[in-house]
Amino acid sequence: MTLLEASDLHVEFASRGRRARAVDGVNLAIEAGEIVALVGESGCGKTTLARTLLGLERPSSGSVTYGGAKLSYRGKALKAHRREVQLVLQDPMGSLNPRQTVYEAVAEGPRIHGMPDEEKIVADALAKAGLRPPERFFLRYPHELSGGQRQRVVIAGALALDPKVLIADEPVASLDASVRGEILALLLKLRQDLGLSALVVTHDLGLAWNIADRVAVMYLGRIVESGPVEQVLTAPRHPYTQALLSVLPESPERIVLSGEPPDPTRIPGGCRFHARCQELASGKAAEAGVDGRCRSELLSVLPAVPQAQAACHYAALSA
Ligand SMILES: Nc1ncnc2c1ncn2[C@@H]1O[C@H](COP(=O)(O)OP(=O)(O)OP(=O)(O)O)[C@@H](O)[C@H]1O
Ligand code: SF4
Ligand SMILES: [Mg+2]
Repeated sequence: MTLLEASDLHVEFASRGRRARAVDGVNLAIEAGEIVALVGESGCGKTTLARTLLGLERPSSGSVTYGGAKLSYRGKALKAHRREVQLVLQDPMGSLNPRQTVYEAVAEGPRIHGMPDEEKIVADALAKAGLRPPERFFLRYPHELSGGQRQRVVIAGALALDPKVLIADEPVASLDASVRGEILALLLKLRQDLGLSALVVTHDLGLAWNIADRVAVMYLGRIVESGPVEQVLTAPRHPYTQALLSVLPESPERIVLSGEPPDPTRIPGGCRFHARCQELASGKAAEAGVDGRCRSELLSVLPAVPQAQAACHYAALSA
């Protein structure tokens, strides 16, 4: 069952007198109990897509649906949505108030939503996030906790609202490797115990591999490749995914992309990756006779399907 879905989603910002198409046509469905990783380089629109799914940003066109119903941006419906779909921020020091105790931090959401039995809710949420016995943490301050414990407090703050989906924006980027493993294990356990779904936004393909069922690779506002994580990461079809994977230490050779870093105020025609594509630059796309299409023919927006797919004229030849 599809829980949360983006349909032909576009999100634009005004940027120095120009239009930045931060999300430029995205279809993405997150099933109940599924963990989806969203990867791509800085500025490709991951956070904007995540914030739009949370109802924090309004689409310029297209829609977000939750449980089959289109998200309404009216007060009550939006408040309910923000309870079901919870954001977990990447930087626990930045997202916790240093002068607030753990209890106060976790109780904030339930208070806003007027939930009864506050103390029990806070204790249960801390316990679910692995901070046990929870009462021992009530009066602690963020600086008295380890990095991993702080991240657990942030996760407990989300769990206190009994959400169905967690959206974790770089949840472990600021943590060291052992803590990272611990938090990943926690997210997997929450899926197993509570049936939670998650969208994990990350630069880290290793993390995507360890945690996600499916991965979506984003480039300049679009998902250019998606599918089961093992398939996409072991047999990537889009040249951009191949380049991202080539920077991993175990990769035999590193693909260095040419051209300018992507700018959402100037999305090129044809394939949006063509100015940087290694297959086009190496002449392989021309050998296959698709170079003209690479430069001039738009690719259609990938549908929200679970099967592996890539938006590339060249990859389509070998599909
Ligand atoms: N509120 C805003 N106003 C104007 N432009 C914005 C706004 N938010 C994001 N952008 C632009 O939209 C594009 C996508 O930004 P976004 O933060 O979604 O990328 P990201 O993939 O999350 O990057 P990172 O990996 O660095 O977090 C960027 O070019 C950014 O400058
Ligand atoms: S469509 Fe052409 S330019 Fe775009 S990624 Fe594929 S080969 Fe490269
Ligand atoms: Mg971001």
